[in-house]
Amino acid sequence: MAIKLFFLLIIVAGVNLLLFQMIGMQLFEALTILFYKGAPYVTTSGEKLKTMLKLAALKKSDRVVDLGSGDGRLLFAAAKVVKEVKGFEINPFVYQKSLKNWKKYHSEEKNIEIEKKNFMKENLSKYDVVFVFGIDYLMKDLEVKLLEELKPGTRVVSNLYQFPNWKVEKNEGEVYLYIKPAE
Ligand SMILES: C[S@@+](CC[C@H](N)C(=O)[O-])C[C@H]1O[C@@H](n2cnc3c(N)ncnc32)[C@H](O)[C@@H]1O
Repeated sequence: MAIKLFFLLIIVAGVNLLLFQMIGMQLFEALTILFYKGAPYVTTSGEKLKTMLKLAALKKSDRVVDLGSGDGRLLFAAAKVVKEVKGFEINPFVYQKSLKNWKKYHSEEKNIEIEKKNFMKENLSKYDVVFVFGIDYLMKDLEVKLLEELKPGTRVVSNLYQFPNWKVEKNEGEVYLYIKPAE
């Protein structure tokens, strides 16, 4: 029994070390990020990220928000183009990771703000571009919120999931562009 436990500990320590080398996270941190509150944490891949930025047709004057900003990768990419970028991230561990990434790799981008908040409780009316990815269980309520709050003309780019009623303006594979219609 003691020997089995010893080998189990060795394996856990090995996996921990491997994860830390590969993604800069300890095993416990990674598991917490994956399962915290059941909110899925998956990042936008390089190609999808490019497609999201392309469909959003970002302009210098845009204010951009990422709903569930994850490790911050969309924020860092958008900040190179637009004047103001905001991220809301509910998972405290993922939020901390995005702050670390910002400080370590993207500290030159000063036009970013990341808040540890539930975006469903925030007013989103000032944004010109809204990004959302992988929050399937919220799409129905988010559709209602965005159609109520956003200015006409606001572009919403959703990776993977569609809104139940809102008509898609354009899509590239599973990345969808929506435009808030005039009142
Ligand atoms: C699939 S990940 C996408 C991360 C990032 N936007 C990207 O494209 O790489 C979705 C993120 O949304 C966060 N999230 C889920 N519900 C949220 C909420 N109500 N408010 C803020 N963040 C939320 C999750 O913690 C997770 O980090």
